[in-house]
Amino acid sequence: MDDGDLTAKLINPDDNSASNPLILSLTVYQNGILRMKIDEDPSHNPPKKRFQVPDVILPEFESTKLWLQRYSIDGDSFIVYLFDGYEAVVRSDPFEVFVREQGSGKRVLSFNSHGLFDFEQLRVKNEGDDWEERFRSHTDSRPYGPQSISFDISFYGADFVYGIPEHATSLSLKPTNGPGIEESEPYRLFNLDVFEYLHESPFGLYGSIPFMLSHGKSHGTSGFFWLNAAEMQIDVLGSGWDAESSIVLHPDQKRIDTLWMTEAGIVDAFFFIGPKPKDVVKQYASVTGTSALPQLFSTGYHQCRWNYRDEEDVKNVDSKFDEHDIPYDVLWLDIEHTDGKRYFTWDKVSFPNPEEMQKDLASRGRRMVTIVDPHIKRDDNYRIHKEATKNGYYVKDASGKDYDGWCWSGSSSYPDMLNPEIRSWWADKFAYTEYIGSTSSLYIWNDMNEPSVFNGPEVTMPRDALHYGNIEHRELHNAYGYYYHMATSEGLLKREGGKDRPFVLSRAFFPGTQRYGTVWTGDNTAEWEQLRVSVPMILTLGLTGITFAGADVGGFFGNPDTELLVRWYQVAAYLPFFRGHAHHDTKRREPWLFGEHNTELMRDAIRVRYTFLPYFYTLFREANVTGVPVARPLWMEFPYDEATFNNDEAFMVGNGLLVQGVYTQHAKDVTVYLPRDHTWYELKTGTAYKGGKTQKMEVTDADIPVFQRSGTIIPRKDRFRRSTVQMENDPYTLVIALDASGAAEGELYIDDGKSYEFKQGHGDCEVFDQILEIRE
Ligand code: GLC
Repeated sequence: MDDGDLTAKLINPDDNSASNPLILSLTVYQNGILRMKIDEDPSHNPPKKRFQVPDVILPEFESTKLWLQRYSIDGDSFIVYLFDGYEAVVRSDPFEVFVREQGSGKRVLSFNSHGLFDFEQLRVKNEGDDWEERFRSHTDSRPYGPQSISFDISFYGADFVYGIPEHATSLSLKPTNGPGIEESEPYRLFNLDVFEYLHESPFGLYGSIPFMLSHGKSHGTSGFFWLNAAEMQIDVLGSGWDAESSIVLHPDQKRIDTLWMTEAGIVDAFFFIGPKPKDVVKQYASVTGTSALPQLFSTGYHQCRWNYRDEEDVKNVDSKFDEHDIPYDVLWLDIEHTDGKRYFTWDKVSFPNPEEMQKDLASRGRRMVTIVDPHIKRDDNYRIHKEATKNGYYVKDASGKDYDGWCWSGSSSYPDMLNPEIRSWWADKFAYTEYIGSTSSLYIWNDMNEPSVFNGPEVTMPRDALHYGNIEHRELHNAYGYYYHMATSEGLLKREGGKDRPFVLSRAFFPGTQRYGTVWTGDNTAEWEQLRVSVPMILTLGLTGITFAGADVGGFFGNPDTELLVRWYQVAAYLPFFRGHAHHDTKRREPWLFGEHNTELMRDAIRVRYTFLPYFYTLFREANVTGVPVARPLWMEFPYDEATFNNDEAFMVGNGLLVQGVYTQHAKDVTVYLPRDHTWYELKTGTAYKGGKTQKMEVTDADIPVFQRSGTIIPRKDRFRRSTVQMENDPYTLVIALDASGAAEGELYIDDGKSYEFKQGHGDCEVFDQILEIRE
């Protein structure tokens, strides 16, 4: 015991070979959070220090460390206090760490109960060691040999596990391995630019969050988070996978076992005891942060396309929204607006007057977003490239030269965002004096930050590329986009002297991304199944911290048929980030291009979103304070109702609205499960439905089924305007749905919608918690 932590040496008893002991440390924090680290022992002089990801864990969290209290030693187990009613146990032989309820002894989470812990130590290369790995035309030199880590984690009392984005798959994670299970690859966490990704796949997409939650009837919810930025693979093991093992684990306790494997880094693991769903997300948020409070405008509708061609096109699209009475807040410009994909510049022919263009939009209360990607064109006349080269700011290849890869701008290099000095240099590029043609109504989109390298292995950077402090790319890969997003967000903050809340959309993400901005699910396809999978993808992001997330409305690749496009608007209007976007090969699909009737349907969907903005904004503030997401799986609100655990076709917006998507063509009706113990009021008609049943609801093309839960009050603004700016002084409408006792409760949060004054208490929060005596 040292400084309130427990430190131990891990020795492999079966191994009389070269392996050195490892160092284990256990720390306990407030709210019963247990942190366990395992790393090599520096006294044995490993050839280099393994990478521990900096700048993710909040310093405020570190300061909640508790003085570890030993309860007792029980045989080979060392028992420490964790929280009221919970304790952690470290067993030495065989080595195992677990969290359990005090008294009942019921387990919650355990590490290495199946003995799958393995840790490959760094070595110095000897004659004859062949560590190189080849993939197509690429060779990874692997200068320190294999350095992987694996272990098993068991979740007790679990009916389902969730989390570990980003995969285009169901909300509850299907087993990848076990008897009777169709064999599958493990869920992969490796940030990649995946062309035309498939739904129903464990393949890793653009971002990674190694945080898994479990939920079940008996324990409730628990969580496990591994802070590690190397490639990771996670197997969810189906029951009976260990039938041949001699280890019998608490047969009376239902559990889900998982196997975690990474290529590099250390074990830095956090155990969250829950026991309610919101407790676990709050515990995770206490470690990695809650989501930034967005500016009000960014919670409205965004119109994007690759590409709005020129200033004329921008003007035209903007005026059509007004002509058709469709509200929107932001117009986006993709890569073609630049001078030859040199970010921070403008194509002189198509965009000769960018400032005027932005001011013109701003005069109607609208903003603009431009794209700024991390690949810097290797052009000696390009200012950013010259500075980065001169200062040695690029990521290096294995031989120590500036890494040169191919992306939109052709031959490109990538600023090394791990280095705080380089991040600060990058942030300065957003100053008005540096980003010529930008104004205060311009915000930023960060794309291709996995990083995407068209000619690299798996379309990314080689694993043996080198970063600041001699860190290999393999160790840091999944966090590169995070640091890039961080630097951009800090740039917008600096630009306004810290006053204006940044808006930066990023494709790649990592734990902590929620503090810097918004995320979207990348290049989806205009297919019904992709509309369906966008819901669990966004719910999963919310469960793992990133609530401000959305999918390209309409699907990026391909042309959606009109019905799909309309349905997409209807579903996405209830999801946190709401943006239409499309590939340059697709036909134009602005909402007025499909005949008057369809324009009306899309207008209605977007208007519904604007009506609910006071509610959304209140929920964004709740997420900012607590970490509880805006869009929630049903089981988060109804953790006792088993019928909800596996449902990912419906979701809650806050605790008041239940939204049921329609994901098939020509649907005449759709089945909706309404959670029990509540009455549900259908939004349009006010018709009441008893919960605890599956209802068959008729649907038309006009809308999708949405219900307000009894006992809630939902604030709205019902006047139709061009954008959020014009709504500022509009009156509120409170929609009150009484519960059986005649009571209802709700919240409304209001502030200036853009600054940080709310931190000084300049925001208002009204809680409508009086019992409202209303008679029919
Ligand atoms: C990537 C992005 C997409 C964007 C395109 C061009 O494919 O995911 O949204 O339109 O690059 O910048």
